[in-house]
Amino acid sequence: MKLTQTPITYACIAAALFALVLSADACAVDAEAAQALAKQNNCFRCHGIDKDKDGPAWRKIAVKFKAMPNAEEKLTKHLTSGEKAKFPDGHEEDHKILKSDDPAETKNLVDWILSL
Ligand code: HEC
Repeated sequence: MKLTQTPITYACIAAALFALVLSADACAVDAEAAQALAKQNNCFRCHGIDKDKDGPAWRKIAVKFKAMPNAEEKLTKHLTSGEKAKFPDGHEEDHKILKSDDPAETKNLVDWILSL
C-alpha cells in the first residue's frame, strides 16, 4: 500500500508547490522599484511606511484598503487624478499626482503599498 501511494502523494505535493510558486510569481511586486519611484516623487516627504507624517503611514492605508473591493483601482485613481487630500491640520489640498510614464510602474507602486 505504502509503496504505491508514496510517489503519487509526492507528485501531488510537488504539483501543488509548483502552482503556488507560479501564482506567487505572477503577482509578485518589485518592492525596490516601487520605493525608487516613491522616492523620485517625494512621496516619503509626507508618508512613511510605518510612520504617519502629514499623510498616513502606508501600512495603515494598506490595512484600510485591503478590506475594500477595487482597492487597486481606487488607489490608482487617487495617485493619478489629484483627489482632495485632508491634512492633519484640517486643510485640504489636491494630492500630489504620481509622475510616471509607465502604467505598469504605477501599478507596481500601488500593489506594493497594498502588500504592506
Ligand atoms: C504634501 C504631502 C503629500 C505628498 C507629497 C504625498 N501624499 Fe499621499 N497623502 C497625503 C495626505 C495628507 C493623505 C490623506 C488623504 C485623506 O485621507 O484625505 C494622503 C493619502 C494617500 C493615500 C491614501 C489615499 C486614500 O484615499 O486614503 C495614498 C495611497 C497615498 N497618499 C500615496 C502617496 C504617494 C504614492 C505619493 C507620491 C506620489 C504621495 N502619497 C505623496 C499627503 C501627501
